[in-house]
Amino acid sequence: MCCMQDDKTFENRDNSTKLSLNPAHPILAPMDGVSDSPFRIIARRHGAGILYSEFINGMDIVSGNLLAHQKMLFTEQERPIGIQIFDDQPKRLLEAAKIVEEKYKPDFIDINFSCPDRRVLSRGAGAALLSKPDLIREMMVSLVNIIKIPITAKIRLGLSQESINYLEISHIIEDCGAAHLAVHARTADQGMQGCTNWEAIKLIKNFVHIPVIGNGDIRHPDDIQRMLAQTGCDAVMIGRGAIGNPWIFNQQSREEISLAEIKTTVLDHLELSLSKYGPEKGLFVFRKHFKQYSKSFDMSKSELTSLLTCENHVKFSNTILRDY
Ligand SMILES: Cc1cc2nc3c(=O)[nH]c(=O)nc-3n(C[C@H](O)[C@H](O)[C@H](O)COP(=O)(O)O)c2cc1C
Repeated sequence: MCCMQDDKTFENRDNSTKLSLNPAHPILAPMDGVSDSPFRIIARRHGAGILYSEFINGMDIVSGNLLAHQKMLFTEQERPIGIQIFDDQPKRLLEAAKIVEEKYKPDFIDINFSCPDRRVLSRGAGAALLSKPDLIREMMVSLVNIIKIPITAKIRLGLSQESINYLEISHIIEDCGAAHLAVHARTADQGMQGCTNWEAIKLIKNFVHIPVIGNGDIRHPDDIQRMLAQTGCDAVMIGRGAIGNPWIFNQQSREEISLAEIKTTVLDHLELSLSKYGPEKGLFVFRKHFKQYSKSFDMSKSELTSLLTCENHVKFSNTILRDY
């Protein structure tokens, strides 16, 4: 595991668990279909700080859904890791959190109040909860009081541009005893479009006393330093900028990395994917990562298409080793 120095260490209410944020070690964002165990291991090997799982539906946890179960498995080298869960029903969310704590034993459980996906919003979960502060309070109070490991939350700035309420929500989350707060500096109706509002992260950081993680539009090592300086946040969280580019966690730009090192990382990542999912699914799941890694290779569109449709992982690896 990466070494953590100058940590901002904080403790949850019963002092039983410690979690560290370090501005020198960016955090891997929760990304559905992307932040799986193989990618988290690659991120950690390249200097990522704490890691988040993909979001997991509370309903699936409680019903014992097999895919949800597989998504919640992690290896010791991924610690400290948080499993992120979402739901619209406080009781079921608590039940899901109890299962996560007892069965999977992550270092913290993160609650998603940030997802703008229509299917999640339509059932009143994710970012839809930003317009129901009382429900956020009800969920967070019961979780913090009953779950022993730290409870954290990830928010957006509001449900829409017309209902920006991040200070109110941040205050509630802090008041309920959350261990830290991650802020994606957009409103839910922005989706992934438009500018992020880093000024809002700064306002939240000045408003609450719990550690604040800044998130949104970090694509280059310079952006990490810029966000830390502009917002005063305790650590940054990186999503899309890390896909096919784990070197960003060590604050290295992709251009600095030798082709040999890139190939080693690509093949290590593929190997992890194959060993988690088996040969067929492993290669299939790896494709979306390779699409981003391929930006580092001098590869024509047809060569890329041929690799992205290749169904044999040995052929895939040999082509990377031999031709690029
Ligand atoms: C493919 C994809 C899946 C995502 N899934 C989740 C998720 O499961 N939970 C969550 O809180 N945010 C999710 N997000 C949002 C990211 O965590 C992050 O907030 C967002 O991408 C902004 O950060 P970035 O500009 O560094 O990508 C997802 C984003 C992407 C691109």
